Amino acid sequence: MADARYDLVVIGSGPGGYVAAIRAAQLGMNVACIEKDATLGGTCLNIGCIPSKALLDSSELYRQAQRGLDVHGVKVAGVELDLPAMMTRKDRVVRGLTQGVASLFKKNRVTPITGAARLVSANRIVVQAGGATQTVETARVLIATGSEPMPLAELPFDGERIIGSTEALALPAVPKRLLVVGAGAIGLELGSVWSRLGADVTVVEFLDRIAPAMDRGMAAQLQRSLERQGLHFRLSTRATGATRTNGGVRVALLGGKGSADEEADVVLVAVGRRPYAGGLGARELGVAFDERGRILVNDRFETSVPGVYAIGDVIPGPMLAHKASEEGVVAVEGMAGQPTHVNYDAVPNVIYTWPELASVGLSEEQAKEQGKELAIGTFPFTALGRARAMGETDGSVKIVADARTDRVLGVHILGPRASDLIAEAALAIEFAASAEDIARTVHAHPTLPEAVKEAALAVGKRAIHI
Ligand code: NAI
Repeated sequence: MADARYDLVVIGSGPGGYVAAIRAAQLGMNVACIEKDATLGGTCLNIGCIPSKALLDSSELYRQAQRGLDVHGVKVAGVELDLPAMMTRKDRVVRGLTQGVASLFKKNRVTPITGAARLVSANRIVVQAGGATQTVETARVLIATGSEPMPLAELPFDGERIIGSTEALALPAVPKRLLVVGAGAIGLELGSVWSRLGADVTVVEFLDRIAPAMDRGMAAQLQRSLERQGLHFRLSTRATGATRTNGGVRVALLGGKGSADEEADVVLVAVGRRPYAGGLGARELGVAFDERGRILVNDRFETSVPGVYAIGDVIPGPMLAHKASEEGVVAVEGMAGQPTHVNYDAVPNVIYTWPELASVGLSEEQAKEQGKELAIGTFPFTALGRARAMGETDGSVKIVADARTDRVLGVHILGPRASDLIAEAALAIEFAASAEDIARTVHAHPTLPEAVKEAALAVGKRAIHI
């Protein structure tokens, strides 16, 4: 006998799972969401996007108070870091948002169930919490179990000196020297946080460039900005081993110029994440996975087992919260008989450093690989009135358009609030806009989005301010 029966059980309460659960409830389904952790919200809210952004904003304010305000004629003396207070604020932000998800569940009559879920069949799930076990029955299951940090065999996590992103969000003191392995989003964002707070940060990257998911030219500009802020980069270099020393870790590095050792107090390993479906029983049930441990789904997000669906980091595609949310909504709408289309060409990607790097659509390299003839327009923030008024002139906007049709293929923004500016570009790509469409759109003056309009004008070689 089951303890309860639902139309849909969502496993995992991250931005994929909780959004899907709410949308399914809106569509009239009787929904439960099972979460193994004590709070709702998954990696993003608890140990990912939200706490990292809280620390990025706080640490940026600290840096500005230390050396960014003089130029505005604001003299600040006696600036001090209160790291425990910064961490407490971050924890409060997280708590508020995870409790917010609980309230949304209540409002939408989604039943939260705490415990670890195991699929016994496509319609039966056993949930274990502490010593207690309950069984739920459901017409459909949606797996939204996300991902976990990828370990590096040469530098195994010890939770203290060799750490992952979770520990790097809660260090008890600013390390003197922080070595970051991996120049992706996590390495650059958390490297920035601790650099601003006073750590001497070196980022080691296996490739010959940083931020491999981004347009190469824009990533090179970001690297120069971060170097000016004091971060060091060792590209085309891999970590081959580590030994604990008295006060820290000695990491052996192998690069183009031979091998070398780097001493650090703390090493952050940020070499990617891997899909997480531990203890779920999905394989045993016959759910098909690919060779990278990702659950395979069809265009309705249904796995190889009828009635069992999957979305987010646990299926192929970029591991991004907003991609997971979108898939969650579309998957449950499909269950309700609605169309199931996600436009993967219009998924924005942001690295929240300062300046921020944001992109949507094709990079210049990807567009060239597709054999397209390109028209590229760029516009630097240094030529923009509002950016000058703000004192934030680092970076530029780059629009990659099809030279034949003028259709916007990709937009890349390095600059102040690029994370906000990219929304206009995502909308442009979603609506299949031409560069002319953006260029003819009236933008308020003086604002940062004018840089996007000017880059669109530059596609047709008629930017006004350069
Ligand atoms: P990532 O895949 O973005 O970057 C990992 C980097 O590590 C790559 O540049 C890779 O070449 C390098 N690498 C791999 N093995 C290495 C080795 N042995 N030595 C040196 N370098 C090595 O992964 P990251 O930053 O850990 O993030 C994980 C996931 O979380 C990504 O999918 C990312 O998109 C997502 N995420 C997104 C954020 C955002 O949207 N702002 C923020 C944080 C994470």
